[in-house]
Amino acid sequence: MPQIIPVATFDCVVFGATGDLTLRKLLPALYYRFRDGQMPAKSRVIGAARSKLSDDDFRGRATKALEKHVPAQDREAETVRRFLAQLHYVSIDATANDADWSRFKDLLDPDRIRVFYLATSPDLYGPTCKALGTNGLVTDKSRVVLEKPIGHDAASAHGIIESVGRVFTEAQTFRIDHYLGKETVQNLMALRFANTIFERLWTADVIDHVQITVAETVGLEGRGGYYDKSGALRDMLQNHMLQLLCLIAMDPPVSLNADRVRDEKLKVLRALKPMEQHEVAGLTVRGQYAHGAIDGKPVPSYLADLGSDEPSATESFVALKAEVRTWRWAGVPFYLRTGKRLPSKVSEIVIQFRKPPFSIFPPEAAEWRPNTLIIRLQPEEGMRLEMMTKDPGPGGLRLSPTGLDISFEKTFGKRFPDAYERLLMDTVRGNPTLFMRHDEVEAAWAWVEPILEAWAARPDHPRPYPAGSWGPTAAIALIERDGRTWNEQME
Ligand code: BG6
Repeated sequence: MPQIIPVATFDCVVFGATGDLTLRKLLPALYYRFRDGQMPAKSRVIGAARSKLSDDDFRGRATKALEKHVPAQDREAETVRRFLAQLHYVSIDATANDADWSRFKDLLDPDRIRVFYLATSPDLYGPTCKALGTNGLVTDKSRVVLEKPIGHDAASAHGIIESVGRVFTEAQTFRIDHYLGKETVQNLMALRFANTIFERLWTADVIDHVQITVAETVGLEGRGGYYDKSGALRDMLQNHMLQLLCLIAMDPPVSLNADRVRDEKLKVLRALKPMEQHEVAGLTVRGQYAHGAIDGKPVPSYLADLGSDEPSATESFVALKAEVRTWRWAGVPFYLRTGKRLPSKVSEIVIQFRKPPFSIFPPEAAEWRPNTLIIRLQPEEGMRLEMMTKDPGPGGLRLSPTGLDISFEKTFGKRFPDAYERLLMDTVRGNPTLFMRHDEVEAAWAWVEPILEAWAARPDHPRPYPAGSWGPTAAIALIERDGRTWNEQME
């Protein structure tokens, strides 16, 4: 097996150190990179938040987080102990300008790579960066990492991009979309550009339509305060799902250089057909889960999860039909859907090819299914190509669909690192390929904004769907009106 090359020694300052993202994702990711020898022993992870905690208090929280989010077989006591020794904590208010900042500055090593990871609410990105700049914490070797969503609409995103840009250059700014760090998402590039068999078929002449589904079984998971202000369109579609769409629809970049890849994604975002206000109701469906059941267990409604007696107009489900206006894709619909409290956790891209132009086989020979390429992003990462084949034996010519399957897990037989592991190491290495450039973020908001506006103008609430179902029936109608169906082999 090729050896893991350690990155340079770094200081990673995590703002929002007591929050869910840090405990659930960032600390476990850093732990794995430490365990596998990629995070050098002298590197430090410095938690920063407003709460008054000591280093030991923070280590105590980190210990609990690792126990919860790293399986026991991966937690060797001595390795955990050495990792915890690299954690430190600073109590700081990003918006206050006081002596804490100069103590903070003294703590950091002037010669090391510095990663400032802002795992906070986006409205703190500008003030935090300003404080970092004013207090002299930003060196040439510094980078800032911003979690999505960048803003809550085009104007606020633009404001954040500008205020962060006053302190950090574009090359120092890493806007994370963790879907881009998933192994199978990166595999989309390999599938398309390291093989010849698909690329020539990757056009409207051959492809009938594309489906992208990101389904979750979880509900609000205690994040109601954030989620209710956001909703599925801002939380998942504006970023993760549009990035997946870009990777499917983009033209081959001229190289793997970060900007060349991002240029091609940007072209796709700019080619998305803008929705007119009057079209939004017909091209989108928003839903909110009512109580129901998942895996036979009762599940409360969105409002109960939120702990609210008041109705909420926030969608926990969105489905829509998009169109990419280029020579390659004109006329090929892209159906996207994502939601919480759906029957299973599954992310999948379905490329459905056109039917044969006519059939030489008698109609009774087969139940036709067009060729379909299913790319399973999670779980059970893999690919399946469905083809028509002849049933063995005499007794009339019978055809049925069969699948060519590749299971990445079985093929590679090893743990797939979490997306954050790669992305955190990429920020230290200064490789921005898997991060969103500012113009991508702005183009994605520009496309989504008319939908948000049209929804806001219509006071009707999102349509209810029972928890454990595939969303409102209108989402099924959205695709079936066009004579197509969502891929049903998901569970
Ligand atoms: C996050 C969203 O970006 O992605 C969450 O804020 C969502 O609401 C999560 O649950 C899904 O990520 P994954 O990696 O579990 O598919």
